[in-house]
Amino acid sequence: MKEKFKVTPWEVSGKVDYDKLIKEFGVSKIDESLLKRIEKHAGEHFMLKRNVFFAHRDLNWLLDEYEKGNKFFLYTGRAPSGPIHLGHLLPWIFTKWLQDKFGVELWFQFPDEEKVLIKNDITFEDTKRYLYENMLDVIALGFDPKKTHFIIDTKHADIMYKEACKVAKKITFSMVKASFGLNEQSNIGSIFYTSMQAVPAFLPSIIKGKKIPCLIPHAIDQDPHFRLTRDIMPKINQYKPASIQCSFLPPLSSADGKMSSSESQTSILTTDSPKEVEKKIKKYAFSGGKDTIDEHRKKGGNPDIDVSFQYLRMFFELDDKKLKKIEDDYKSGKLLTSELKEILIKKINDFLVEHQRKREKAKKEIDKFIFKTK
Ligand code: TRP
Repeated sequence: MKEKFKVTPWEVSGKVDYDKLIKEFGVSKIDESLLKRIEKHAGEHFMLKRNVFFAHRDLNWLLDEYEKGNKFFLYTGRAPSGPIHLGHLLPWIFTKWLQDKFGVELWFQFPDEEKVLIKNDITFEDTKRYLYENMLDVIALGFDPKKTHFIIDTKHADIMYKEACKVAKKITFSMVKASFGLNEQSNIGSIFYTSMQAVPAFLPSIIKGKKIPCLIPHAIDQDPHFRLTRDIMPKINQYKPASIQCSFLPPLSSADGKMSSSESQTSILTTDSPKEVEKKIKKYAFSGGKDTIDEHRKKGGNPDIDVSFQYLRMFFELDDKKLKKIEDDYKSGKLLTSELKEILIKKINDFLVEHQRKREKAKKEIDKFIFKTK
């Protein structure tokens, strides 16, 4: 029997079936011709070629507009509610690439009320602390401060609230209920929240006084927000935002879920030390290898269910040839799980040492990124 899975913006559980999600959510697969079209403007990106970013809405329309000289802006975000792990960084790294290649602005939302409203155990004191910490991780990725604007819901409420109300007016409770897993007992803040997440998709258009196309790179669980946003936008005379969607970086414990910072043993945080990374990978990274070395040498391992291999594929091994060799050697039994893990540990630690250095530097740069209303 197939295991049930669930994907909403506030809950991901079970073994995620991405093909099924594409149908359920009504998003489109990124096909060869779209891939070529993106490549024509931006070149190749391994996350596109390897299907890490696998689905979209209206990307062809967005590129039509772009080719006509109608530049888009990027929009993505993070609800501060805990430390940042590698899974969070994945779509942001891709977003930074888009910003560089297309030379466009990025609006980065920090909805610091979202998890206060949704989760029982998160307070505004928590989100304040994590807002600061999370901003450091975003800045550390190297976004262009001249083209990147942080908007923080409670701080920028003066420019956001009115726009959110325009959206909220067009949404009924029954429209949000099913796709967000809400019910009669849900607090009314959680019912309203999606209208705040809709705002950055058209706020730049309001500020500039003309309609500007928007592209939202995000993990597929956020799609219900933007499906709804897209329904509403024409009703308030705005463009529907386009989106490009990625799958989840799996937790250490299994290759088919979503990394979560509330389970620190199965996630790798951006602040983890090299020792911690080594320990976590060795102890917890689910292996597609065989039980004994003898058996592994004979029958080989399965990279598809091997978390270490998946991290290399989705995030850390940019070189296709090297990745292919690792895959082949693992399948043939030439490469052992312990050796595969060593490759990954080194990659992660090289990345994190650099990231942590930039994260320190970011402490002086926060102010440059926060959007100034005046
Ligand atoms: N809801 C997202 C989270 O839980 C935060 C978010 C706000 C977001 N706006 C976004 C994510 C746009 C992706 C794209 O972290």
